[in-house]
Amino acid sequence: MKPLPALELVTRLEDAEWLDPVAKKVRKVVKRTVRPQWARDILHGVPIGHPVHPLAVQVPLGSWISAAVLDALPGNNRAATVLIGVGTASALPSAVAGFMDWSQLHSQQQRVGLVHAAANITAAGLYAASLVARANRQQGAGKALAYLGLGVVSFGGFLGGHLSYRQAAGVNHSEDILHRFPSGWHPLAPLEDLPEGKLHKRVVAGLPLLVFREAESVNVLSDVCSHLSGPLHEGKLKGASLNDASASDGGDPCVVCPWHGSTFSLRSGEVQAGPATARQPRFETRVTGGLVEVNLPGAD
Ligand code: FES
Repeated sequence: MKPLPALELVTRLEDAEWLDPVAKKVRKVVKRTVRPQWARDILHGVPIGHPVHPLAVQVPLGSWISAAVLDALPGNNRAATVLIGVGTASALPSAVAGFMDWSQLHSQQQRVGLVHAAANITAAGLYAASLVARANRQQGAGKALAYLGLGVVSFGGFLGGHLSYRQAAGVNHSEDILHRFPSGWHPLAPLEDLPEGKLHKRVVAGLPLLVFREAESVNVLSDVCSHLSGPLHEGKLKGASLNDASASDGGDPCVVCPWHGSTFSLRSGEVQAGPATARQPRFETRVTGGLVEVNLPGAD
C-alpha cells in the first residue's frame, strides 16, 4: 500500500531549516520558564518512567472529541460547553510538558514538533473562541469553531504520531539491547586493562558498553543513552569519587550524557536527572581469573 501524500509533506518538514530560528527562540523561553531540575524531571516524566505529555493530552483530546459527539446531537449545548471548557483548561499543562520534552530533541524532531505545537495552540484558541461564542448564545458559531478546532488538533495529533513513531522522540532508545545482546556471560577485558575512576568504552558482541571501574568493582551500562542514543562514554563523570559536592545522591557516581545532560547512576543505571525517563540497561559483572565478564539480565 502506498503511503498518503501528506506523509511526504511531513517528511519534508523535517528538513525545513527555516524553522530553526523560531525553534531557537522558543527553546530559550522554555529553558528560562522552567528552571528547577526537579520541575523539569516531573514534566519530562522521570518519576513515571516515560513521558508525561502523551498521557496528559488524553484529557483535552477526550473532552473535545466527546464535545463534538454531543454537539452533533440535539439538546446537549450545556454539556458540550462544559467539556470544551475542561479540554481548553487542561491543554495548558499538557502543552508545558510537551514543550519541555521538545526543548531536548534533535533539530529534525524540533521542526516537526514546532508545527505540532502551533497546530495544537491554534486548536486551543479555536476552542476558546467557541466558548466565547457559546457564552454569547451564538451556538451555531460555537459549534463551527469547535469542529474547526477538532480538525486542527487532529492534524497536530498526526504530527505527534510522526514525532513518536517515525522520528522516535520520547521512546526508550536503549530497549533493543535486551534483544540484541546474547544471553550468558561474555568476556569484557582483563581487570588490569580497565582504567580506574574513568569512563571507558568497550564493545562486546558488536554493542558498545560503558565501563566504570571502582577498585575491584566494575560497573557496566549500555553506552547508548536511553533518551536519544547519545554516546555516554563521551559524557562527564559526576560523583563523590571525584570529590564533586554536587553529586545528586551523595556519593553514587553518575554519568552525564554529552548530548542533553541526562544523568544516570553508574552503579544502577537509574535516571538521576532527565530528559531521559528510562533507566540504562545495567550489566552484571564478575571477575574470573583476572578476566572481567558481563551478563545482561533478561537478554534473549
Ligand atoms: S541523548 Fe539526550 S540526554 Fe542522552
